[in-house]
Amino acid sequence: MTVDQLLAHLRDLSENGADFERLLETAVQELSRMDPRFHWTGIYELFSDNVLRLGPYVGSPTDHVFIGVGNGVCGTAVAEKRNLNIPDVREISNYLACSAETRSELVVLIRTGDRIHAQIDIDSHQVGAFTDEAVAMVQQVADWLAKAYEARGGAPLDG
Ligand code: SME
Repeated sequence: MTVDQLLAHLRDLSENGADFERLLETAVQELSRMDPRFHWTGIYELFSDNVLRLGPYVGSPTDHVFIGVGNGVCGTAVAEKRNLNIPDVREISNYLACSAETRSELVVLIRTGDRIHAQIDIDSHQVGAFTDEAVAMVQQVADWLAKAYEARGGAPLDG
């Protein structure tokens, strides 16, 4: 599936009444298949208590089910309100290891302006896995999901 096909599929699901969780699961599952370097692909949702909570994911189970804003790569992306593309996690001091094999990590925020709903987090065993093309693809999915969060109400999820 290409990213355009995924967006069309998400639109179809949404128009046919799929629940929100199904949209998130589909996005994660299909994104994880789009690039062989995506070894762990998941969504963390931002709750009103300023804690990220793990949503659907594909890959090995992680201990990091809850991540406070400001912690690790995921929490830093929220605190700094920006995407993070880390070519080599061994160079990051506050990195939270999900797998000892992870070398690079990408966090793309799912946001409406300054309002952050969630994020797509992807880990790769390869150094520098996230090319401009890969980032652009993930961004398109994040932007589609941001509209879905907005349509759902847009308020931060209850803590
Ligand atoms: N590495 C992330 C934690 C999430 S796991 O990789 C799935 C971080 O440093 O925030």
